[in-house]
Amino acid sequence: MTYAQNHLSRAAPLASWAPWSDRAGRLSWLKLACFLAMAAPAAWMALQWQLGWLSPKPFADLVRESGDWAMRILVLSLAVTPLRWVTRWNKLILVRRMLGLAALFYSLAHIALWCADLKFEWWNILVEMFVRIFLTTGLAATLIMIALGVTSNDYFIRRLGAKSWNALHAWVYAAALLSLAHFFIEIRLDATEAALTSGFFVLLMAFRFVRKKLNPGLVTLCATAVVCALATAATEAAYYAISTRVPVMRVLSANLDFSYTIRPAWWVLGAGVLIALLAAWRNRVSPAPSVMRRSAAI
Ligand code: HEM
Repeated sequence: MTYAQNHLSRAAPLASWAPWSDRAGRLSWLKLACFLAMAAPAAWMALQWQLGWLSPKPFADLVRESGDWAMRILVLSLAVTPLRWVTRWNKLILVRRMLGLAALFYSLAHIALWCADLKFEWWNILVEMFVRIFLTTGLAATLIMIALGVTSNDYFIRRLGAKSWNALHAWVYAAALLSLAHFFIEIRLDATEAALTSGFFVLLMAFRFVRKKLNPGLVTLCATAVVCALATAATEAAYYAISTRVPVMRVLSANLDFSYTIRPAWWVLGAGVLIALLAAWRNRVSPAPSVMRRSAAI
């Protein structure tokens, strides 16, 4: 049963609209925790503004901060399904919509702050959006996210039917790719966070792919993590080679120098291996019933 079918079949007639309620209208601690976590960056930004902790260009600071959070939360929302497969903690699905809407919220706040920075000079804003390629990619991503946000409720699941609804919501991958392109084009100096976020995105996509196409055991999942880590290192090196002309080998060898920082490729490898081990442990504790049947060797 797909998410949409499952969602509809369990729809409660009097479902509460509160973000911390489950579909039966009861308090869900998971949703409450997620809601508070999603509200925290906005509260932190408001506090920095209120206490004057921002630089002399507060709007520029907040545009960057809100953009970072929109990007992080968007990728986090894509982690829900793989984590559900691995942990078999089905309740995780309760927070997927909230994460998607939070990503949309931070994207819209990001755009509003940018418009405020440009003093709401609409003609200028419009020209910038269509002339600067990095803004056009951001705009395309936002339009997709708005379409997904608007249709993320029961009404549209019923209206479109489960199959079309799932096909429409697969556009989230395009939104994530466009947002990553927007991020990479915008970078001025340090590509660490962009490389890290794109590495996690690739890892999540790869895990989805191997689960669908292969019968992944621990070794396959660990090998996938290694390939994704190498791809992250290669992306980072390619970015610096193209934008700053730093030799590829110099950036690649920085991955083996731990005196300054741990490069993104290692974090991607760590996350991938952790997920693989979690899957192996989960399957040992209770062998796969249905969802994980195909990956019984994990
Ligand atoms: C119409 C849509 C958008 C516009 C006009 C826009 C505008 C901008 C601008 C002007 C910056 C540069 C900030 C600076 O360097 O001072 C920026 C950076 C950024 N944007 Fe967007 N953006 C849009 C959509 C998005 C979306 C949908 C996402 C992610 C989901 C996103 C994520 C980011 C990120 C991660 C940065 C880099 C922040 C940093 O440097 O730390 N943006 N955006």
